[in-house]
Amino acid sequence: MRICILGAGGLGSVFGALLAKQGVDITLIGRAAHVNAINEKGLQLLGIRGEQLIKENLTAVTDARDARGEFDYLILGVKSTATAATLAGANCLRDRVATAFSFQNNIVKETELATWLGDPARVIGFSTFEGGFLEAPGRVNNNITLETSSYLGELDGTTTARTTELTETLNSAGIGTRLVPNIQQVLWEKLTQIANAAGWSISCEIGNPALTFADAMILREGAEHYLAVAREVLSVYKAQGYQPQNFYAPVSKLKELDSLDDEAAITTIMGIGQAMLDGGYQSRTSMHDDILNGKKTEVDYILKPFIDKAAELGLEVPTVAACYRIIKVLDNYLR
Ligand SMILES: NC(=O)c1ccc[n+]([C@@H]2O[C@H](COP(=O)([O-])OP(=O)(O)OC[C@H]3O[C@@H](n4cnc5c(N)ncnc54)[C@H](OP(=O)(O)O)[C@@H]3O)[C@@H](O)[C@H]2O)c1
Repeated sequence: MRICILGAGGLGSVFGALLAKQGVDITLIGRAAHVNAINEKGLQLLGIRGEQLIKENLTAVTDARDARGEFDYLILGVKSTATAATLAGANCLRDRVATAFSFQNNIVKETELATWLGDPARVIGFSTFEGGFLEAPGRVNNNITLETSSYLGELDGTTTARTTELTETLNSAGIGTRLVPNIQQVLWEKLTQIANAAGWSISCEIGNPALTFADAMILREGAEHYLAVAREVLSVYKAQGYQPQNFYAPVSKLKELDSLDDEAAITTIMGIGQAMLDGGYQSRTSMHDDILNGKKTEVDYILKPFIDKAAELGLEVPTVAACYRIIKVLDNYLR
């Protein structure tokens, strides 16, 4: 199998490293510093799976025009805000890629890839909870995984040879993957989870860069705000006919938040926060980190869909709208 990863940053490099180690022929297209470091010393994978150096089955280039040959899959790995420019600069790959997918946190990537390829049948749906960030050029940290960390499926819900083969390949590379007939639901539920976490944490913690995700959860006011966002994003998710599944258990608690009354839900949220602190969990959502790092966010891809869908369905989402406005103001001054 040959896979090209277009935009090999944090997560793309994790997928590339794990798949190359398993014998998949990987071409990474990334920024010069990262590509040069990989070509000089190999790709270092650090984090929860231990430290490994990957040199075999790996080609790294800075421009799509330097990616050689045909590819079974193209994985779009840039941030959602960079999709249009990146795909426009990679037109030379369109006829050499059989199937494309993306792990971006949004619900438009499949349509964007289908438009780029000129054929929706060459796109599959994909969602992941694997976590990764570049520590330095040539060094990627895989900081989160789950027993089932990824889901994929044909957009029409059928099972095909390519989705079966890709699922097997990802599983053999250690990326716990499930082939599902309802990938659109997984995409919406992941967005529900991410919008809840990111909208909440930025709107209540951004004034203090020392605060991590759990620091506001343990406070009653923080938990109340978390629940207010959760109730609204869940209302939009459920109004489309979906029921929460906790696809990303044990991290996802959407089922619990949906079924508990307010007081029990607030107690649960405060308890989750305390358990995180006790376990030494000191991370933030990537959108929160983007703001702290002075980088433009994916707010229009992560929160805005809930506001648009709510308007379409006649639902009120005032807390989500307030989070969106706060993040948009911050985002306006970032590059
Ligand atoms: N990281 C995670 O843990 C995680 C988990 C689940 C989902 N996701 C989603 O996955 C997507 C990617 O996230 P990420 O954290 O991996 O982002 P990232 O680290 O910023 O990786 C994207 C990389 O692509 C590069 N790039 C941008 N345009 C390019 C181009 N035209 N040619 C070559 N390289 C280009 C970027 O460089 P510059 O920074 O210089 O532009 C960056 O190095 C996002 O939608 C995110 O929400 C991430």
